[in-house]
Amino acid sequence: MDYFNYTDGQLFAENVPVETIASEFGTPCYVYSRATFERHYKAYDNALGDHPHLVCYAVKANSNIAVLNVLAKLGSGFDIVSIGELERVLAAGGDPSKVVFSGVGKQPHEMRRALEVGVHCFNVESEAELYRLNDVAAKMGLVAPISLRVNPDVDAGTHPYISTGLKENKFGIDIQRAPDVYELAKGLKNLAIKGVDCHIGSQLTEVRPFLDALDRVLVLVDILKDKGIELKHLDLGGGLGVRYNQETPPEPSEYASEIIAKLKGRELTLIMEPGRSIAANAGIMLTRVEFLKCTEHRDFAVIDGAMNDLLRPSLYSAWQDIVPVKPRVTGEKRTYDLVGPVCETGDFLGKDRELILEAGDLLAVRSAGAYGFAMSSNYNSRNRPAEVMVDGDKLHLIRQRESIADQIALEKIIAE
Ligand code: LLP
Repeated sequence: MDYFNYTDGQLFAENVPVETIASEFGTPCYVYSRATFERHYKAYDNALGDHPHLVCYAVKANSNIAVLNVLAKLGSGFDIVSIGELERVLAAGGDPSKVVFSGVGKQPHEMRRALEVGVHCFNVESEAELYRLNDVAAKMGLVAPISLRVNPDVDAGTHPYISTGLKENKFGIDIQRAPDVYELAKGLKNLAIKGVDCHIGSQLTEVRPFLDALDRVLVLVDILKDKGIELKHLDLGGGLGVRYNQETPPEPSEYASEIIAKLKGRELTLIMEPGRSIAANAGIMLTRVEFLKCTEHRDFAVIDGAMNDLLRPSLYSAWQDIVPVKPRVTGEKRTYDLVGPVCETGDFLGKDRELILEAGDLLAVRSAGAYGFAMSSNYNSRNRPAEVMVDGDKLHLIRQRESIADQIALEKIIAE
């Protein structure tokens, strides 16, 4: 559930008419609902109830510091994949001792900074990374807390680009080899084994693959126990899907209760790294129709939002709902392709959408709070959009629209 609803024929973000936001801040523009972020975070936290747990919001989904701050205030932990994300968490007032550091290519300077601030755990993805981390920690006279990210070889049944738990993916350590790699880690003096981690993919719409992965990881936990390696936590990663179109993903409560049932009788703290299920439906992207271009073959609505602002439709053929902010009751309904001004045929936000449109109409792309702004770029030298957070009847500009000066600030003409 979210707080973007129609009242008296127009779309509201919490208590604010979305049209007001577009007039004040222009389009394209991302609009987030604080109450929705809070509701989604609490859904996880409450579902995990008394079981020892840490919800580590996956920063990559939406890394605006105002978003991170809203979650930090609720006690959220954070899953990061770069030092940039760590600095954002710190700038937002997040607690470093609730941070897990994932990612296949951590650099020594990133490890150093994470050790310096005292992150909860490094999710290590290879033997080479174990050696590197041990080295860095030794030079600092510290001991690095680690989990191994194992690859349980389960099919998450999602888009191949966002499926990560299969043998052929670059992520994690083959679960069959994991006992040996744990032995190796045990022998490295500047590492302390804390847990095990896996993340099998994103936008999963069933609980089954998570449970299959968990079963395999629990077998590993028992093998390690027999070897005298006792784990304190189990990190199941993120991946719970959301409803973009007709999907019916489980609620966090259903997902969490099935997981916790399997952990009964074990003293394992459960860590989760949800990104999309917290952020996606907490945001929309506003865009305005520039022109209607009806041809013999197709009807196009040329909008001011483009693939550089919201890449998911172009990159994954992802479907995002696109709705009029003030639905017209009269006029001709046509089947439009909603295309942006970028010079690529793949620049579209939606295809074959039945809408009644006029030039100048305001549209909202729904479920845009996750992997929306975070994946935006300056392609075609377009300024990245503004981001606004609605809180009840208040509006906060949490990132101003970029300017051309911002875009060229780091560039330099050669002297001669
Ligand atoms: N933990 C790890 C280690 C991850 O790699 C990811 C996402 C998450 C947690 C969060 O997963 P979530 O709960 O959001 O599914 N750009 C793609 C999604 C890429 C996800 C990458 N990893 C998209 O727009 O669909």
